[in-house]
Amino acid sequence: MFDRSRPGLQTHPLSHGYSAAEHFPAGSAVNVRPMTAFDAEKLRTFLNELTDKSRRERFLRPISQMPDYLLRSLTRLNGARHVAFMAETSEEGSKRMVGEARYAVDPERPGDAEFAVAVDDRWQGRGVAAQLMEALEDRARAAGLHRLFADTLEDNHAMLSLARRCGYAVVANRREIGVKRLVKDLAASSVMH
Ligand SMILES: CC(C)(COP(=O)(O)OP(=O)(O)OC[C@H]1O[C@@H](n2cnc3c(N)ncnc32)[C@H](O)[C@@H]1OP(=O)(O)O)[C@@H](O)C(=O)NCCC(=O)NCCS
Repeated sequence: MFDRSRPGLQTHPLSHGYSAAEHFPAGSAVNVRPMTAFDAEKLRTFLNELTDKSRRERFLRPISQMPDYLLRSLTRLNGARHVAFMAETSEEGSKRMVGEARYAVDPERPGDAEFAVAVDDRWQGRGVAAQLMEALEDRARAAGLHRLFADTLEDNHAMLSLARRCGYAVVANRREIGVKRLVKDLAASSVMH
């Protein structure tokens, strides 16, 4: 999914198989782990601290502060149908969330799931999203899903670039103008380890 030969980029899977520590050239480490309902406050802080632009790109509409109903739905995780991973870093002795990725199974097509990803603006461009997407895809494959898809604004170049690098096809979205659909057939793509 991304170039593991980059200097300073190493992955260390932990015992349960869905957590990894990512070491960045500056020496700071990012750990990717499954999100739980107990992470609600971290998620609220993370999403509220995104720039307006990033929050709009994440939710495809402007949101100034995260409403409670939306936060509740984002932390109503269900081991099989709604799965989320978060990236954390340690800063001054406490852990801070710097990214999230999730999928929710499409109720009409149980082999398909819609995903979304976001990374703290200060942490973008360092491979955090690629690491989150890898965890998400590994989990989706293990759950027997066939396809991941997402909608993204057509001017969201960072997401389009990330998606292409991760092997997603970028296709027109027939229902919404200005929105592209990203699609990946999981069975056809191999896991890079
Ligand atoms: C889209 C988004 C998730 C990408 O996150 P990110 O963590 O910056 O993505 P990555 O770092 O994995 O990749 C971004 C760039 O960093 C580069 N990169 C990846 N790993 C790197 C590393 N170890 N060192 C240096 N650069 C690296 C990549 O080459 C990539 O550049 P390119 O795509 O121009 O070639 C982020 O911009 C974001 O949160 N946007 C707002 C929310 C959003 O748009 N979500 C999408 C809704 S589906």
